[in-house]
Amino acid sequence: IAVLIGGLAGTVAWLYARAEVSTVGEVDFAQRLSVPAEAKSRVAKDGTRVFDLDMRAGETEFRPGQKTPTWGFNGSYLGPTLRAERGEKVRVNVDNGLEEASTVHWHGMHLPARMDGGPHQMVEPGGSWSPQWKIDQPASTLWYHPHPHGKTEQHVQKGLAGMFILDDKKAAKLPLPDRYGVNDVPVMVQDVRFDGAKFDHGHGMMQNTGFLGDRTMVNGTLAPYHQVKDEAIRLRLLNASTARVYNFGFADDRDFALVGTDGGLLEKPAEMNRLKLSPGERAEVVVRMKPGERTVLRSYPYEAGDFWSNRFGGADDSFDVMELRADKQLRPAPELPDRLADRLEVPDGKGEIASERSFDLQTSGINGKPMKMDRIDATVTRGSTEIWNVRNIDGTQHNFHVHDVQFRILELNGRRPPEHLRGPKDTVFVPGGTTVKLALSFTGPADPDVPYMYHCHLLAHEDGGMMGQFVVVEPGQGAGKVPGHHDHH
Ligand code: C2O
Ligand code: CU
Repeated sequence: IAVLIGGLAGTVAWLYARAEVSTVGEVDFAQRLSVPAEAKSRVAKDGTRVFDLDMRAGETEFRPGQKTPTWGFNGSYLGPTLRAERGEKVRVNVDNGLEEASTVHWHGMHLPARMDGGPHQMVEPGGSWSPQWKIDQPASTLWYHPHPHGKTEQHVQKGLAGMFILDDKKAAKLPLPDRYGVNDVPVMVQDVRFDGAKFDHGHGMMQNTGFLGDRTMVNGTLAPYHQVKDEAIRLRLLNASTARVYNFGFADDRDFALVGTDGGLLEKPAEMNRLKLSPGERAEVVVRMKPGERTVLRSYPYEAGDFWSNRFGGADDSFDVMELRADKQLRPAPELPDRLADRLEVPDGKGEIASERSFDLQTSGINGKPMKMDRIDATVTRGSTEIWNVRNIDGTQHNFHVHDVQFRILELNGRRPPEHLRGPKDTVFVPGGTTVKLALSFTGPADPDVPYMYHCHLLAHEDGGMMGQFVVVEPGQGAGKVPGHHDHH
């Protein structure tokens, strides 16, 4: 009987959770999608492109008449899109106008560790920080967000996040939609929950997963539509949620072409009709539309028999995320080329491997150890390539993000990964029962005293200690001594 009651209670809880989060077909898409402005920049005498970002508290009217207290960069919610080209030197002047310390991390960026904006580069209230570096990686859709140890989930869900788009000359020559905000559109997807006018962040559904909302927003717009003016539109999808995994597709099941992943273009477009993105991952997709038609970007439940199927962390819910409405007349768009890139700038694992390491993921920590600010977990040599085997050993949904590098997924559960996971990646979904084998090259510069992070990007897990630190050193050099004073745990 106890088993029966337990089973019933489980079913009821599951049905309740399912009903509560299902917003498919109920959405009327009344608001035009807001597109983050492209950040203004100036070029200094030495040629450096300079941006200004300030973190501030404010209020945002997501729903008419309801003022939600939020945080943002240069505004009340989210931040402008930074944009720079390969080869350029950039500097970002970050001012912290908040009442607490935070950081700004450039997710996906290859740059010196002290410019990375991780938990060791705290910016005090009223303080500022001006990292600078040279853009030295392919065209891609990166993003930025705070990274204060123990508080990342809070700071991101209050609204601190923005996109950082990189361009390069080769990619610019491809016939891909490239009119920002028109046919090349940032799509930052977040799940939210309201309690009156305020965000409700206390009411996470799954203790194990972290915060889960009951509806989604794109670029801070609830139930948005975007007016499409071209036969093809590029969506730069970013899962900016703190814990939820999306399984994107369209309501009419149309195919789309995946052209890029976290760190840039794939070798060739991959046609598909479903795409999972875990927190922090990006995907550039090109969708074709006919004059006058409408379609809805949806997050589907995982399919039965899906290799990644399980009921946790939003796997069973679905959301209508945004509507695409095509004009009666559309500007013609060329077909996609067969090839997008001839050689990916990620290691193939066939050259010399300096070391092979294992990372066992558990909510309580990586390799059995919760994060410690003054402990270096891995020391890698500048110029070397390594193999990292990442394994989910507790069955809870996790993913794995590595700072500074773009890696290649060599294997997913012992097999070559599907086409859409063969591009440059900095974050990989590692749900229960999954092992991934990654190849990573560390090109430097070396800095034995300042670590980069690797962690689960489900932010409650990261904050709770699912994070570790690595330093890049010169051959023969050891790790330095890292201060631990920002430890919140
Ligand atoms: Cu997007 Cu270490 O973070
Ligand atoms: Cu996790």
